[in-house]
Amino acid sequence: MGRVLVCKTADIPENGMKAYELGGRRVLIAQAGDCYYAYQGICPHQEVCLDEGIYDGSVLTCHQHLWQWDITTGEPMGLAEAPLERYQLEVADGEIFVVHTTALQAAEIFTTASEETLARLNAIARREEHEAGSALYDIGDPADDLYILESGRVEFLIGREERTTSAGFMLRRGEVFGWNAMLEHQPSRIARASCLEKSVVLRMSGKETLKVLEADPASGFNVMRKLSSLVTRYLTLSGAK
Ligand code: FES
Repeated sequence: MGRVLVCKTADIPENGMKAYELGGRRVLIAQAGDCYYAYQGICPHQEVCLDEGIYDGSVLTCHQHLWQWDITTGEPMGLAEAPLERYQLEVADGEIFVVHTTALQAAEIFTTASEETLARLNAIARREEHEAGSALYDIGDPADDLYILESGRVEFLIGREERTTSAGFMLRRGEVFGWNAMLEHQPSRIARASCLEKSVVLRMSGKETLKVLEADPASGFNVMRKLSSLVTRYLTLSGAK
């Protein structure tokens, strides 16, 4: 894992925050007491810069719809319905670095998987690039593979023809979608997934993923537990529209 210099500690105001562009990603660096934290710079709700929000040294508030997060964990508070993606950070000699992680390592449902299992999952993942406007799958397609977003943006549409509507959420790096490939009795897609911009995804067979997880029951249990939270969150966001 490599690391990238972001800024100097002196650049971040005391109990304040600042955003930086890092390889096409907006990264928010926040200071709280003696500690520094790095998070996604764009709100997980909509395309709004979080550094334009309010930060009091412990709670970050997006000014648009007042979603809030605990800065020490990125966990949602109050109205917020999704956590912030947190980046691993190192501070050395007054400089702040963000440690590069792969999309698989960043994937929320796989964060507690063992290193061995992550390596096996990595071995079955195919990296694909898709142009803006291309569809990854459509409603009714076989649900064989799951996806992890490495970069870009993917939109979900539910319904058919003129009654098509957005499913009401956007993805962040490391987000898993097409997860019904890992569920029983869910053979078909229930939404259309298409790229809003040029996007890179990791694509993994649902059956092969389950085989890897079955070989490591402790990791498998944690992955499925996180997956059920993720599914609940998506259903809540879709239903809230
Ligand atoms: S855009 Fe940030 S809370 Fe809605």
